Amino acid sequence: MVAGTDTAGLTLAPKNPLPYRQLLRLVRALDTGQLAIRGAGGPVTRIQVAPKWLFPPFVAVFSPEAIRDVLGRNDAFSERCIVHEEVRDMAGDSLFVLPNEPWRPRKRALQPVFTKHNVRAFGGHMSRAAEQFTEAWSTGGEVDLDHECRRLTMQSLGRSVLGVDLNDNADTIAEHMHVASSYTADRALRPIRAPRWLPTPARRRAAAAVQSMLQIAADMLQACRADPSLDAPLVRALMDATDPETEQGLSDEDICNDLLIFMLAGHDTTATALTYALWVLGHHPEVQDRVAAEAAALGDRRLEPADVPYLTYTTQVFHEALRLCPPAAGVGRMAVRDIEVAGHRVEAGTLIAVGIYALHRDPAIWPDPDRFDPDRFSPQNVKARDRWHYLPFAGGSRSCIGEHFARLETTLALATVVRSLRVSSRESEFPVDVPFTTVAHGPIPAHVTPRR
Ligand code: HEM
Repeated sequence: MVAGTDTAGLTLAPKNPLPYRQLLRLVRALDTGQLAIRGAGGPVTRIQVAPKWLFPPFVAVFSPEAIRDVLGRNDAFSERCIVHEEVRDMAGDSLFVLPNEPWRPRKRALQPVFTKHNVRAFGGHMSRAAEQFTEAWSTGGEVDLDHECRRLTMQSLGRSVLGVDLNDNADTIAEHMHVASSYTADRALRPIRAPRWLPTPARRRAAAAVQSMLQIAADMLQACRADPSLDAPLVRALMDATDPETEQGLSDEDICNDLLIFMLAGHDTTATALTYALWVLGHHPEVQDRVAAEAAALGDRRLEPADVPYLTYTTQVFHEALRLCPPAAGVGRMAVRDIEVAGHRVEAGTLIAVGIYALHRDPAIWPDPDRFDPDRFSPQNVKARDRWHYLPFAGGSRSCIGEHFARLETTLALATVVRSLRVSSRESEFPVDVPFTTVAHGPIPAHVTPRR
């Protein structure tokens, strides 16, 4: 018997006592809804949003123990869920959506590309994009942090992932990605959906957006093949990637689908992390000054990936921003067999929602959870913390492959912006939408003034 599958003597997780309509509303508020669901139903709670024949049984998990039982053993126990299936239907097979079996060789081929060491080869573009931002605002003024951060993330990702400058069409591409990802997430969360073959206007728009992104990826791949001197390290790394066990490489279609998914998975997430971090720093001038001083100590030159180990306090700020505003508020899995989750039986076929937002605001783990305090991530505090208490990049074998890359990019951007500009946030709240990942419900107004 595999550990965790002897569920015979266990009872199902308790049914959430909230009324049906309220639950339906809370489930769609993917971030804050978690707090009320946990408050009423506890750390592992069963939710019935529709009859079983319409929507699978649904369990939400919030405690570190329950989350570990779901994500920490996920290969044998759980599979991709309806959200991943919708993305797969729209954007093809990629690392993000492949079921566990075909995913393994793809992961083996791609993992070496994204090691802490290797991301330095394609991850330094954020500094240049952030410099363009600081130069544009070198005399100060009123900015919309949401718009600026999305733009600079898109420019940087375009360069890093696709190897192209997206300067002029950054906004159009960001719009394409928004259309594609909100369409898929919206469908996934509906108890009743139009059949996939029905070409609704929303579906046609999403498909066109995906096609135009795939075309950019395909053009770049061709250009790299035609000109070996072309600078696109990630595209080249994918061209050369092979599964170490089978020595099999990736097809052109695989490469383009993965490039697309890196853009989709990397853009909104990184932009939100950066926007939130700058906004929260805009309310904590003393913390901001410390970040500025740390970056200034490295000299008056463009910051590089090799500088990140010296930006320790900036990294703490970034982690605390991801705790308070995790761009992935939750992740979903489908149980493929009956499993034990924190002492309860979760039946095969159950959709399991892992509540990262609620975990990050659990007062039993994070005293005074709503307070911004980068010291929570001091080296000694990090060392003392359980691995399952903090999961902005999820956990287990299907956690984020872009984690090192995202950390590198965002730390460099934060340091670059704050070294040159003092940011004062105008609004006391950070409004968000959670169409799929969490994004700022812009504008996020701030006043910037040059530091020197
Ligand atoms: C702050 C930024 C980011 C956050 C918070 C984040 C978070 C996450 C989370 C929570 C997952 C698990 C999703 C799930 O299980 O459904 C994930 C998966 C993934 N992320 Fe990220 N991500 C970030 C940036 C990036 C970047 C920059 C890239 C690529 C360049 C990326 C590529 C991916 C891919 C491909 C997966 C699927 C991995 C697999 O199934 O093997 N992410 N990310």
